[in-house]
Amino acid sequence: MKTIHTIAELRSTLAAERAAGKRIGLVPTMGNLHTGHLTLVHQAAASADVIVATIFVNPLQFGAGEDIERYPRTLAEDRDKLTEAGCHYLFAPDDAEMYPNGRDNQTEVIVPKISTIHCGASRPGHFEGVATVVCKLFGIVQPDMAVFGEKDFQQLQVIRQMTADLFLPVDVQGAAIARNEHGLALSSRNGYLSSAELDIAPALNRALRETKAAIEAGRRDFSTLEENAQQALEAAGFKRDFFNIVRQQDLLAAQPDDIRLVILAAAHLGRARLIDNIVIEL
Ligand code: PAF
Repeated sequence: MKTIHTIAELRSTLAAERAAGKRIGLVPTMGNLHTGHLTLVHQAAASADVIVATIFVNPLQFGAGEDIERYPRTLAEDRDKLTEAGCHYLFAPDDAEMYPNGRDNQTEVIVPKISTIHCGASRPGHFEGVATVVCKLFGIVQPDMAVFGEKDFQQLQVIRQMTADLFLPVDVQGAAIARNEHGLALSSRNGYLSSAELDIAPALNRALRETKAAIEAGRRDFSTLEENAQQALEAAGFKRDFFNIVRQQDLLAAQPDDIRLVILAAAHLGRARLIDNIVIEL
């Protein structure tokens, strides 16, 4: 695998691959890779010839007081993992390469409505930062397809809407959530958890599964189910963020007749903010 730090070198390298008739697959990440990221690489390899992973801790998607400074940076280990997973190119730019005119002069991509609810309400500006950097990566790499984890369900919807609205010729695919043996969704932020917190953390997925079972059994008192789950999480040691039963198509509050639902959850445990979700097809 070749590591490239500049847009100019990546562009000329990929132009040669494209000229040779190769399909290009993109796996954007912020690094500190775990098994979940590597499944994205494997999924990309199933529908593209050349896989480009990116590692860029994007300052635009972190709010004031969030964890950008302590976000784990493990480039050497990540490079080994990507090589083993069969990735062909790693694009690892610095801030000046991605934002040459500075953050304040950067054109921003705003995906309306969906960016302002759930995670967007807890982290104002977050999805503008995500949509902007993903749009730039699509412009730099010009991939045929790109893969994003379904753990960030709302992020995937934001990226899908941006891609459709801007007529970007990229097949955006979601990859199933990778979990540890206790059901905890894999995340770079799990590294912030103490061993006691790691024992508590699977309660988030448990609350999602229990709420899904209640809905499948016929419960439609969504507000009560949401509040019960929040209380169970608080009792387990979490601080609440949100636990919302919503419709898959627009992520707005579920109504009793809706049949394609998703429960989106975020909660704080120690120094980590964990997110997870569960899809319900009734
Ligand atoms: O999911 C992530 O790791 C990031 O939000 C992404 C998509 C790489 C954009 O920075």
